[in-house]
Amino acid sequence: MKSINPKIVPIKMKRDKLLLLNQILLPMKTEWIECTDEVQTAHSIKVMHVRGAPAIGVAAAYGFYLGARKLVNSGKKPTVAAMQKIKERLDQSRPTAVNLFWATGVMLEKATKLIESGIEPAQFIIKLYNDAVAIHEDDAKRCMDMSVIGADFIEKLIKNKKYRIMTHCNAGALATGGIGTAVGLIRVLHDRGKVEMVYSNETRPYLQGARLTSYELEKENIPGTLVVDSMAAVLMKKKMIDFIIVGADRISKNGDVANKIGTYGLSVLAKEHKIPFFVIAPESTFDANIKSGDDIPIEERSEKEVFECQGIRHAAKVKALNYSFDVTPNTNITAIFFEGRVMKK
Ligand code: MRU
Repeated sequence: MKSINPKIVPIKMKRDKLLLLNQILLPMKTEWIECTDEVQTAHSIKVMHVRGAPAIGVAAAYGFYLGARKLVNSGKKPTVAAMQKIKERLDQSRPTAVNLFWATGVMLEKATKLIESGIEPAQFIIKLYNDAVAIHEDDAKRCMDMSVIGADFIEKLIKNKKYRIMTHCNAGALATGGIGTAVGLIRVLHDRGKVEMVYSNETRPYLQGARLTSYELEKENIPGTLVVDSMAAVLMKKKMIDFIIVGADRISKNGDVANKIGTYGLSVLAKEHKIPFFVIAPESTFDANIKSGDDIPIEERSEKEVFECQGIRHAAKVKALNYSFDVTPNTNITAIFFEGRVMKK
């Protein structure tokens, strides 16, 4: 199949500055955040200027390069210990998406080998830049490959119709280095004339569905309908959904999936209504070191995100609990699409 290009590219390098499309402000405002070292990059990941598991990994790879570059430019010799510190700084930004640790791990391994080879600092920096670009480009290719694998699988499973699809959070171009995972698959199906409607859940509290997925659907001219999270059940009951597709932040060895809060609930509803429930993610999201979803660290974010919307408080003075992710057990998942395989129970 011909390759599809992303219209939105949220991560760019320009004259040794990392430019991140500020996803806090989209779709109302287009603003680019500049990062020149690993500290600024880690901050941008933490506050979610850049978000989505694969995109976090790509940004972290560039952040690692920028940290190493700053060190060399200050006249210091790059050492393995200094590279480890850069990795640690980036790794502290968000705990759940394993792509972050995967990308900084790859960069540290490359940097270590280069340092041990006795390379000149100037050459070291050039090579690390190329390694970060390779992670970015590789993610774009993975997005395309897994989207085709998933679309082919779905067309074989659910025949002779245009699909009414539900998705949650944002797993599109904004969340990856390419066309996206869940939205990537939707784009492939749309390209084949197979999409009737995409229902995106608004995804409280950060509103990735309302602000980001809807924005991507609009840009790609894909029919989209925005619904509040609590409407998912009734849409399934009314037989308005043919399948659900979501991305992932970490997949354990047994196929349990950590993804945006609300995903687990959707999977339970899908099971009850006998609706196929699919997950799509690159292998960099697969964590073979973790046996089951019970061991996946779940990020807890600020109460403020629950109390407020766009900086305006709407809640009374109580406590708030803000788990950013939940875990869907493999028994609720029809299939997981990776770039080179399909994982089924
Ligand atoms: O908190 P976020 O916006 O980083 O959470 C993102 C998600 O949960 C996505 O669904 C997941 O990372 C997959 S992105 C291709």
